[in-house]
Amino acid sequence: MNNSINNRKTVLITGASSGIGESFAKVFAEKGFDTLLIARRKERLEKLAQELTAAHGNVNLTLALDLNETDAIQKVASFLKKRRLHVDALVNNAGYALPKPFMVGSWDEHKAMINLLITVPTALCHLVAEGMKEHGQGWIINVSSIAAFAPEFPGSLYNAAKSYVLHMTEALDLELRPFNINCMSLCPGLTSSEFHETMGVKEFLSYIPKWRWMESDIVAKEGYEGVMRGEHLLINGKVNRALVNAFKFMPNKIKYLMGKKQIIL
Ligand SMILES: NC(=O)c1ccc[n+]([C@@H]2O[C@H](COP(=O)([O-])OP(=O)(O)OC[C@H]3O[C@@H](n4cnc5c(N)ncnc54)[C@H](OP(=O)(O)O)[C@@H]3O)[C@@H](O)[C@H]2O)c1
Repeated sequence: MNNSINNRKTVLITGASSGIGESFAKVFAEKGFDTLLIARRKERLEKLAQELTAAHGNVNLTLALDLNETDAIQKVASFLKKRRLHVDALVNNAGYALPKPFMVGSWDEHKAMINLLITVPTALCHLVAEGMKEHGQGWIINVSSIAAFAPEFPGSLYNAAKSYVLHMTEALDLELRPFNINCMSLCPGLTSSEFHETMGVKEFLSYIPKWRWMESDIVAKEGYEGVMRGEHLLINGKVNRALVNAFKFMPNKIKYLMGKKQIIL
């Protein structure tokens, strides 16, 4: 399939087998994009691809891949090359938070999370940006989090990794915007998905009221609309925007104390 010839637009979405990534697949398909869906769980991806094709008549390809494999980016590159597929939009969404403090987690566990949250999205941006430049258009959404602004959690590298995503995205946006490529960080707050289940903290967080949680479909819809209108940073929802503002203006001493007392807002 060569989408440059038939003039169709394709979005590559990582972590499309559940939560925010699955919601992004639905939004982009609804807007007429073809999709390339990447995650490890093949059956989930294939089921989603079939549903999208049935609903929208677009082309939905799947690539079941562990993005932490050492040659994962090469595998994505050869998948694209083999099909002469141009990526018009990229959503770097795959991620998880390791629920272990620094010295409790093994180095391999930390390394894997850092790789998935930092190296993989950066490498995928690098992989597709040249093609976007040649086409004179492109959209990149890198999923960060309001955690990028929040107090640290003892021994967790997640906030630092999401902060990297924020800075990396802004740097790329400054370079690529003149070529009509919009790069945007998306910062959701608490979102209903499999994220907290994977972390093993779903029960623990059940005390948080419903109004604090957003639906992944809304997070993705806001993300799509944000990048299309040229935002470079989008924080989902009023409550999350208020929290981020509070974190921005909070003296570091207070943030540090909140981290020490493990206060989650
Ligand atoms: N939920 C929240 O409250 C929240 C808040 C802020 C930011 N975020 C961010 O939003 C993004 C999406 O998370 P979510 O909430 O939608 O969680 P989720 O439902 O757990 O989705 C995570 C996705 O990442 C994929 N993934 C994980 N490890 C992978 C690997 N090694 N290779 C390929 N794919 C992998 C998973 O697919 P497979 O298991 O099939 O591989 C799944 O599709 C993450 O970057 C997360 O940090 C979430």
